[in-house]
Amino acid sequence: MQRNELCWCGSGKKYKKCHADYDERISEMKFDFFKGQVRPPRKVINNAQDIAGIRAAGIINDGALDLMDEMVKPGITTAELDQAVYDYIIGHGAIPGDLNYEGFPNSCCTSINDIVCHGIPSKKVKLQEGDIINVDVTTVLNGYYADASRMYMVGKVSPAAERLVRVTKECMEAGVAAARAWHFVGDIGAACAKVAHENGYGVVTDLGGHGVGKGYHIDPFVSHNAKPETGMLLVPGMTLTVEPMINEGTFKVFTDKTGDGWTVRTKDHKLSAQWENTILITETGIEVLAH
Ligand code: MF3
Ligand code: CO
Ligand code: CO
Repeated sequence: MQRNELCWCGSGKKYKKCHADYDERISEMKFDFFKGQVRPPRKVINNAQDIAGIRAAGIINDGALDLMDEMVKPGITTAELDQAVYDYIIGHGAIPGDLNYEGFPNSCCTSINDIVCHGIPSKKVKLQEGDIINVDVTTVLNGYYADASRMYMVGKVSPAAERLVRVTKECMEAGVAAARAWHFVGDIGAACAKVAHENGYGVVTDLGGHGVGKGYHIDPFVSHNAKPETGMLLVPGMTLTVEPMINEGTFKVFTDKTGDGWTVRTKDHKLSAQWENTILITETGIEVLAH
């Protein structure tokens, strides 16, 4: 690309004033094949306009989760939570990213107790005192995606459940804090897993975080149990989720194919928790775009 041409990122700026230095820095880097180190593809790099779009989607997504903070109580059905998420997102001119995603029937995932993720909201499922539940919401606004989830404790829960919920949040925060431009995505998973393993918990590896922004589940895959300095290079302008699924017992999970085809549970039926943020990699650190 010529230095006076418009930059490939779509910023409308001249290449020399935009990603020319970036491309040079990457071309000078050595990538360790044995650590799975790879360059990020250009399509996952967001320009200022893209970032503003994802940020705006994130604000609506945060609002939907704030509503869950108020609604989650013993006796409410997960279908009522789902309807509220749908109404809120549509009411703000956006679309629930989960709805019809690969055939998913609802506007959020509601994952209770031994459900690891992708629980389907239902009129038949009433929250009960002592449950722990993850509500996972994705908002699409003007084609930009933001994805986040939170845990809720329904009424009074056991000390063991409370500890799992708290430590899982610490895992997510450690992962977010480990994400740095010009380092590798494996740093995130290494930080998440350290906190989980120190606390005697299992880290789910069958599912993970992902690039998000100009699409829903895009590169890179974000493992929550990785080795430092492995995988894709993180660079300014990338947006991705950190969403560790942490289990009380075994890290092993299964999808009941005879059931709804979505619900993922722990193999030992012990508790699982998850927190998810969408973050932006900046030159100097990160910005949380949805939480
Ligand atoms: N929001 C989930 C994630 O964090 C994905 C849900 S996909 C669905 O990646 F189809 F189950 F909704
Ligand atoms: Co999510
Ligand atoms: Co996600």
